[in-house]
Amino acid sequence: MAARRSRDKAASSKSAAIARKSAWPAWPIHGAVERKALLEVLESGKWWNGSKCREFEEKFATFQGAKYGVVANSGSMALLAALLGMGIQAGDEVILPPYTFMASASAVVMANAIPVFADILPDTLCIDPDDVERKITPRTKIIMPVHLAGYVADMDRLSAIAKKYKLMILEDACHSWGSRWKRKGTGALGDCGAFSFQFSKNITSAEGGIVLTDDEKLADAIRARTNCGRTKNSAWYQHDVLGTNWRLTEFQAALLLAQLPRLEKQTLTRQSNAKILDKGLSKIPGIVMLKGDKRMTRRGYHLYCFRIDEAKLGMNRQLFLQLLRAEGVPASEGYALPLYQYGFFKSSRGMTPSLAPFVAQHVDYSRVSCPVCEQVCRDTVWLGQSILLAAPARMRQIVEAVVKVSKPTQWRETQGMGNRVKG
Ligand SMILES: Cc1ncc(COP(=O)(O)O)c(C=O)c1O
Repeated sequence: MAARRSRDKAASSKSAAIARKSAWPAWPIHGAVERKALLEVLESGKWWNGSKCREFEEKFATFQGAKYGVVANSGSMALLAALLGMGIQAGDEVILPPYTFMASASAVVMANAIPVFADILPDTLCIDPDDVERKITPRTKIIMPVHLAGYVADMDRLSAIAKKYKLMILEDACHSWGSRWKRKGTGALGDCGAFSFQFSKNITSAEGGIVLTDDEKLADAIRARTNCGRTKNSAWYQHDVLGTNWRLTEFQAALLLAQLPRLEKQTLTRQSNAKILDKGLSKIPGIVMLKGDKRMTRRGYHLYCFRIDEAKLGMNRQLFLQLLRAEGVPASEGYALPLYQYGFFKSSRGMTPSLAPFVAQHVDYSRVSCPVCEQVCRDTVWLGQSILLAAPARMRQIVEAVVKVSKPTQWRETQGMGNRVKG
């Protein structure tokens, strides 16, 4: 028994040493296909938004199971173009979760509309439909679920709520390429959905975005917003709606066309690596796994997330992350604050006065409280998507590193590290 324990200990410290030494997969992954595609565009002289963009729109829409795609130069602008194309008006309210990137909310503010925050569910980190329903007012126009980390929000409930109150749904699908709800792809579940192809994303052209929809009229309206307000078949210098230049280039579309066939295999790798992490981490006291939702039939894994029970671990997240990073695992805390606690929403010089004319009063975000989100911001740990592309053995090293740093007192004391939970 003692011999086995010492053998296990030796193996574990060997793995941890390997984890410390070896590099994690570089991102983005590219090769001869991308080089050839870029050179082809270069030499063609057709650099502007054209046939490659149209080809990518069609292929990506098909990949997610939607009818139409409209590319944009970022996920942020895809969201804004979608909101405008959906007919949002000044002073309308959009209900969204506060556990997301700022772009989800800033698109709403830039459309002169009002972000209203609804709490999230602890098992998916996505918006809580009960809280959405509580937050509906006569001003509510759109629900914007965010399919965070590749999880999918409860689209059954959200669709039922949208139908009941005659609201539209814009999915922020900027983390969810390849994710599916009851076998249907994200971005094709609501009225429309926006994706990002920014550098850190699972398919990338450095910057870029797309809106997907099954509604041809909506696709045309959104395209007009991304193309200086030119509506379908309008003359070149005819601008019927407010729009600006949010176009993608052929270079970016060529990169995305080269990356798209890689996405499927990479998604499978991330999924099987995530299974190893699930199995290993779920056995560690103090590590809290997210249950997910069975109706999410496929997950694209932009991030691998788990939570920690600080009391059980006897340390706070800051120390946990510090110890984990010392073991060579590049984990991060992710969003440390709900959006409504950012200076922008708190500051009197922020958007609230600029929206005041539309709501006839100041929007006071200091009164917003989403307790689940606030807790998740304190105790969640993120591993980025490219880590999930490493060899399976490296997933086991991550598990071993978590086992090692979670061991109470003695080990940390021998390393000269405290274990107190800071208040
Ligand atoms: C949830 C979410 N929404 C929107 C965006 C905006 O996408 P982009 O960076 O392409 O503008 C991001 C980007 O990280 C995001 O994470």
